Amino acid sequence: MASESILIRGPRVIDPAQGLDKVADILVRGGKVAAIGRIPSDEVPEDCRVIEAGGLVASPGFIDIHCHLREPGFEYKETIATGTRAAARGGFTTVCCMPNTEPPIDNAAVVEFIKERSRAEGVVRVFPIGCVTKGRRGKELSEMEELAAAGVVAFSDDGDPVYDANIMRLSLTYSADLGLPISNHCQDRALSRNGVMAEGWTATRLGLPGIPAAAEETMAARDISLAELTGGRLHLAHVSTAGTVPLLRQAKERGVPVTAEVCPHHLTLTDRWVLGARGEVTGAAGPQAYDTYTKVYPPLRSRQDVEALARALAEGVIDCIATDHAPHDLTSKQGTYQEAAFGISVLETALGSALQLVHRGHLTLGALVERLTVGPARVLGPAFAELATLKPGTPADIVLFDPAREWVVDPAEFASKGVNTPLQGTTLKGKVVATLVQGRVVFSETPDEIGAR
Ligand code: NCD
Repeated sequence: MASESILIRGPRVIDPAQGLDKVADILVRGGKVAAIGRIPSDEVPEDCRVIEAGGLVASPGFIDIHCHLREPGFEYKETIATGTRAAARGGFTTVCCMPNTEPPIDNAAVVEFIKERSRAEGVVRVFPIGCVTKGRRGKELSEMEELAAAGVVAFSDDGDPVYDANIMRLSLTYSADLGLPISNHCQDRALSRNGVMAEGWTATRLGLPGIPAAAEETMAARDISLAELTGGRLHLAHVSTAGTVPLLRQAKERGVPVTAEVCPHHLTLTDRWVLGARGEVTGAAGPQAYDTYTKVYPPLRSRQDVEALARALAEGVIDCIATDHAPHDLTSKQGTYQEAAFGISVLETALGSALQLVHRGHLTLGALVERLTVGPARVLGPAFAELATLKPGTPADIVLFDPAREWVVDPAEFASKGVNTPLQGTTLKGKVVATLVQGRVVFSETPDEIGAR
């Protein structure tokens, strides 16, 4: 399969790594990009499949450095098979999966299990992230060296913060030696307490306990100090507040080795969405009391936060977009807002959501592609650069998308088991049409047409 030749004819090729933005053909051979440019018909190999891509954008496949595939342990929420199919539908060709599995990814055997499962059942590249602490319990460092040797690409206790500052310091010290980032879920539990949504007007109105922005910012500030102290590579997971942005900006200006990601929902949705009916207040209490599909960690925040995050992404203060795809079963999301699990199913709506920034003029299309490819690859390290470009000779991990196509979100069509999206029924503008991993079509909207000459 991987040795098949494919000609992608006539897309707008955007490859930020090469500074490329032009209409061209892409020839794929032996799983690699063979050529980019005008390829005359008589030079197209005999047995070549042709994908007509005029009017579409072709770019390196997206890289998601933060998702939850739930396997092992929570296969009723997601599996590597369903999660990687969801990734492919979303245009992601590489995903890094978080270790809040059961058992957690805190030893080489679990890393091996995930790698094996991904080879057997996955359709995109999967790289596991290892635990910072044993069992994600926050008490004792995991065997970071063993995990690195087994192939983890980063460390995180995501879902929980690394709460103990000295353990965070030690993990950053090791990370400096291992050359792998520590991705911290910044949440000061003494401040977030039993909060379930952002502190503010909507929380007060609903009578729900709020989480102040300081719960994120105090820990982000602590971690930046520790990265400065140790020289370890700090990555801030799912940044959600305007106040974290100047901390990041100043740290980068001082040369602290820190990077950060932002999620599509924090770039586009405010805490008003918690009210249900997409945040439109209709009548006294709205059509429903609240929408538990909006419950996510960190919580959806104010319009000012959303705007500050979009600006920080445009300026490159925030390095990349990551989905924090957190699929849940229905039972985990039904019931009261307090009882519901935190998390949104994001992989299949990420591009359509993020493109809102482009359509509204906050970001160029080239910059958006950069934040979904080169940006995340840089967080992971130089070995990943070849997955974020279409330079001839690199693996043919390619996404084809239509940035202008409007579609209505219907979770019944998701490949993910997680239908927990507050975007159900909304119209997004921008859709993935096909995804190739190593020259193999792993998702195609019109499978029958692809390959027709
Ligand atoms: C994540 C999950 O479900 O694993 N949920 C979420 O709301 N982001 C874990 C987490 O980061 O809290």
